[in-house]
Amino acid sequence: MKIVAINGSPRKNGNTAQCLEAVGREVTAAGVEFQVFQPGPDVRPCMACYHCLNTGSLRCVRDDDGVNDIIAACIGADGILLASPVYHGGVAGGMKCVLDRLMLAAGCGDNQLRHKVGGALCTLRRSGGMETYQQLLGAMDAMEMLIVTSDYWGAVHGADPGEVLGDEEGMAVARKLGRNMAWMVKVLRDTAVPAPAGDPRPMMNFIR
Ligand SMILES: Cc1cc2nc3c(=O)[nH]c(=O)nc-3n(C[C@H](O)[C@H](O)[C@H](O)COP(=O)(O)O)c2cc1C
Repeated sequence: MKIVAINGSPRKNGNTAQCLEAVGREVTAAGVEFQVFQPGPDVRPCMACYHCLNTGSLRCVRDDDGVNDIIAACIGADGILLASPVYHGGVAGGMKCVLDRLMLAAGCGDNQLRHKVGGALCTLRRSGGMETYQQLLGAMDAMEMLIVTSDYWGAVHGADPGEVLGDEEGMAVARKLGRNMAWMVKVLRDTAVPAPAGDPRPMMNFIR
C-alpha cells in the first residue's frame, strides 16, 4: 500500500515540504508507504502535442524533468496527495505543470488514476487557500479519484519556510488528512464490494 505525494513548490524544505513530512509520519505509522516527489523549479509545462493521449503511452514526450517518474509512481500508487503553495490565488506553476501532464498522460483516455484515493493540501501566507484547495480537488474529480478529506479544509498557513509548523490547527488538519487517506487505502484494499465498471466518456467539443 502506497501513497504518493506531489509537492508543487520550487522551494526545498519549504512549508509544503515540512507539512508533508508531518503527513508522512501519520501515513507510515498507519502501515502505508509514503513517497514525496518534488519536481522543483525546472519542471516544464505541457506542450499540447497530445502524443501521450493519442498513443496511450502513459508517458510525456518530455523526458528530462522527472515528471514521467511522477506519472509512473502515481499509476502504481494506491493514493495520491496533491500539495501546493498558493501562488497569486491559485496553485503554484510547478504543480500546474505536473497536473497538466499527469492528467493528460494518465488521467484521460484509458484513465489509470480512476478510483485511487486522493487528498489535497495547500500552504499559504494569507489568502487564496480555498481557491487553490478547490483547484486541486477539481483535478482529482476530473480523474474519477476517490477524494478523502480532513476537516476545516486543507490550507495550512505560513510564509517563510518552517512557519507552517506554527499553524497548529492547520497542521492538525494535515495530519488528519494523512490518517484518513491511509485508512481509506486500507478500506479499499480489504473491501469485498466490486468497483463499478468504467464507461468510455463521449468527448464533445461544443463546436456547434
Ligand atoms: C509568486 C508567489 C505568489 C504567492 N502568492 C500568494 C497568495 O496569493 N496568497 C498567499 O497567501 N500567499 C502567497 N504566496 C506565499 C506562499 O504561498 C507561502 O510562502 C507558502 O508557504 C510557500 O510554500 P513553500 O514554502 O512550500 O514554497 C506567494 C508566494 C510566491 C513566491
